[in-house]
Amino acid sequence: MAALADHPGIVFDAASVKESVIEAVRSTLGRVPPRFVPAHPIAGRETSGPGAADARLFESHQVVLTPVPETDARALTAVTQLWEGVGARVSVMSAAAHDEMLAVTSHLPHLVAFAYLQTVTPEHMRHAAGGFRDFSRIAASDPAMWAPIFTQNGRAVLAALDDLEQELNRLRALIAAGKREDLVQLIEESRRRRRAFGKPSVNEAVAVSPAPVIAIDGPSGSGKGTVAAAVAERLGWRLLDSGALYRVVADAALRRGVALDDAAALALLATDIEIRFAGEAVMVDGVDRALAIRTEDVSAAASKVAALEPVRAAMLDLQRAQRLFPGLVADGRDMGTVVFPDAALKVFLDASLEARAERRYIQLKNKGLAVSVSDLLATLEERDRRDRGRAVAPLRPAEDAVLIDSTALTVDAVVARVLEAARVRGIVTRT
Ligand code: C5P
Repeated sequence: MAALADHPGIVFDAASVKESVIEAVRSTLGRVPPRFVPAHPIAGRETSGPGAADARLFESHQVVLTPVPETDARALTAVTQLWEGVGARVSVMSAAAHDEMLAVTSHLPHLVAFAYLQTVTPEHMRHAAGGFRDFSRIAASDPAMWAPIFTQNGRAVLAALDDLEQELNRLRALIAAGKREDLVQLIEESRRRRRAFGKPSVNEAVAVSPAPVIAIDGPSGSGKGTVAAAVAERLGWRLLDSGALYRVVADAALRRGVALDDAAALALLATDIEIRFAGEAVMVDGVDRALAIRTEDVSAAASKVAALEPVRAAMLDLQRAQRLFPGLVADGRDMGTVVFPDAALKVFLDASLEARAERRYIQLKNKGLAVSVSDLLATLEERDRRDRGRAVAPLRPAEDAVLIDSTALTVDAVVARVLEAARVRGIVTRT
């Protein structure tokens, strides 16, 4: 870690214990570098070394990331993408929660297996069968790995061991007293728990909850873009400006002379161009089009191409791929209704037509683009009509959306309301 302290790249580890790793980094460097992402891939075998390598080892396995407050959101996103890229399912929790969890699900079973093998002789093993094989497999694990895990996660392992000792004593007492009925009950309960393991309902709910989404929808000029960016910044979450995607397609269509009602050609175009957001820049096939896509011509064209179902379908995966930890703030027209129907918070932001036209005017003027307020009123109204009236993904509030009218509110006031709504729902703890 000392050698990597000033390395510009992202660093992550793969250790089975997280608090002690973070502590070691902090005491070695005097700080936790923002680009260090504590990680634990929960996949492995009792074998080790290059000869035991398996390219598909991480597929469908869990990887837990335990960021600290200093961790850079983009570094966390990059490491999430890397693990998802080899097929793993990523979840994020605190280092303390991870260590307690793993003490119970992994460290204790290994400890018990090692202890048990101390009671087994070669003579016993000659007569051993399936029960022995299943229970003792992990006792063949590498001591160089396991001894440090037990000591570095000592507190949590000892707490788990206390619980197990209690259970063993309970079983001992039942056996000594010949309480067969009670034993049946206890075993029945354990059997029920073990059978639930691996069932999608258990594993999906606990392990693979996807990154949280805050969806902010509303008409043009309602302030959703500004609000979404501010909320993402405050939370350290990713931002998806979905309108920019339709603008990029419209812009490309105008440049390449593709008719704005040729659904098939536009859908092809949408999948053909490479779109990448890099801070303020909107890179289209390697060229920044951030400013070019904000003109009124492109605005009008965007709402036309966005009404076509094949174009929207082509954009769906691209939008959902942005859903990465620690979370995504997505703004648009159908974020809460179509793209992220399971968003943890849905906001529908509205404002009077006059207020929206005025805001757009100021926004465009600041970007050096010349327009008149009366023209803007007319085109905004026209775009709204098209966005609300179209057959696919029309602009409308999701049933469970929080409605905010921003006509008389400052940006800060709207941001505060959104963050408060997120806090009330338990999506974020600190705002
Ligand atoms: O939000 P923005 O004004 O940049 O969006 C441009 C156009 O893209 C909108 O008028 C709308 O027709 C379309 N759009 C959409 N669905 C979204 C975002 C934008 O149809 N989620």
